Amino acid sequence: MPLVTFSNPEYKDKTVYAVAGSHTETLLKLAKEHKIPVHHDCQDGECGNCIVRVSSVDSKQQRMGYHLTDKEQTVLRHLGKLTKEDIERLALDDMPSEWRLACQMIVRDEDILVEY
Ligand code: FES
Repeated sequence: MPLVTFSNPEYKDKTVYAVAGSHTETLLKLAKEHKIPVHHDCQDGECGNCIVRVSSVDSKQQRMGYHLTDKEQTVLRHLGKLTKEDIERLALDDMPSEWRLACQMIVRDEDILVEY
């Protein structure tokens, strides 16, 4: 099972196990289940309140590329976290974005650190 560590300077780090390969559980859902106070509002990839920084802490494997939905791309660009060029480069290199919307990111079989 992947390990997801949620970290915030105001709170103690909390590590939770995610259900591997369910392909249905978003990072925000996981946070809510474990009472981790990740900000959110719309829960539909539009407000940008749930923005988090995600990095891999999995030494065993290479980073997996993640598909950013059109909505997520628009919000991340609007927030100034990604440029159009960044998005194109990530897609071309099949690499994940470090900035994600927790309500849009599906947890996969990879150990990650989530800063919120
Ligand atoms: Fe609004 Fe995620 S809660 S974009």
